[in-house]
Amino acid sequence: MEVKAFYWKGDHLLLLDQRRLPSEEVWLELRDHLQVAEAIRGMAVRGAPAIGCVAAYGYLLGVKAGYDPDDVKKTLERTRPTAYNLFYALSRMEKALKEGRDLEEEARSIEKEDYEANLRIGSFGNILIPRKASILTHCNTGALATAGWGTALGVIRTAHRSGKEIHVWVDETRPYLQGARLTSWELLKEGIPHTLITDSTAGFLMRSGKVDLVIVGADRITARGDVANKIGTYTLSVLAKHHNIPFYVAASTSTFDLSVSSGEEIPIEVRSEDEVKTCHGISVAPTGTPAYSLAFDITPAENITAIITEKGVIQPVTEGNIRRCLS
Ligand code: MRU
Repeated sequence: MEVKAFYWKGDHLLLLDQRRLPSEEVWLELRDHLQVAEAIRGMAVRGAPAIGCVAAYGYLLGVKAGYDPDDVKKTLERTRPTAYNLFYALSRMEKALKEGRDLEEEARSIEKEDYEANLRIGSFGNILIPRKASILTHCNTGALATAGWGTALGVIRTAHRSGKEIHVWVDETRPYLQGARLTSWELLKEGIPHTLITDSTAGFLMRSGKVDLVIVGADRITARGDVANKIGTYTLSVLAKHHNIPFYVAASTSTFDLSVSSGEEIPIEVRSEDEVKTCHGISVAPTGTPAYSLAFDITPAENITAIITEKGVIQPVTEGNIRRCLS
């Protein structure tokens, strides 16, 4: 059975609580936009495309319940500042409302388009994957992070299903452990050979010739191709460049923010220091030690071999190629 992060049930949203995975599969019933906003802020749902889809249903719930549409939009927008799909989905919902179109249909379309985009990203990405490949990935970019199938993990899924001999190195992805908890869970369900590593293992594996390529997702991509993604992505890109290993980003066009040119203009989410200082509620640092919990970093376009979208592969990553691909 395919993994799904959420289901729209006509009058409420059923959401798989990703904080409880992999130990428990608990489904939350979200009945208003405030509950949806809290689920996004609290990371019950995460991954830029999934956040966008869920926010669209949140907008629908809020507006249907008679709340002021501007307030509903603002409440949902304030949850996570970096994931561009959130802003993309909410502005589509706002436009649909202004044009008098059916909001439920619009939210369903956003979900369907994301799923279909991921299947196409998988097919385009598969062209870049050798018949036998050891692939390193970071965070979770699978069905859990999207409307289904996944972006970077979707490429891996497609390559595996097409009969290629794939092995995945899964970065645990400190501090939230999306790799250890979620990517491993999805790969295990799909029967894709994989091995979990600590984030700091990646460099030496590359030096030892054990990584053929790196593929990651994106939270926001600028007009010149700078990519915001899970903290640690930039480090991997530098390592991959140093070791002459292809570094791919897989993302749908709804993750591109063409209103900004440089990655420096992207707002980076800073999360609670407790996420660094504790692990599953257990303290791993002295109480008095301050911690800095940046959720994302920026990988400059120069470090990226290609960006795989549902409209094609952008290579080399230049503003001209991005604008041509997206138009
Ligand atoms: O903090 P998260 O778990 O929402 O971060 C997720 C990522 O960084 C993903 O790589 C990105 O959203 C792409 S998911 C297809």
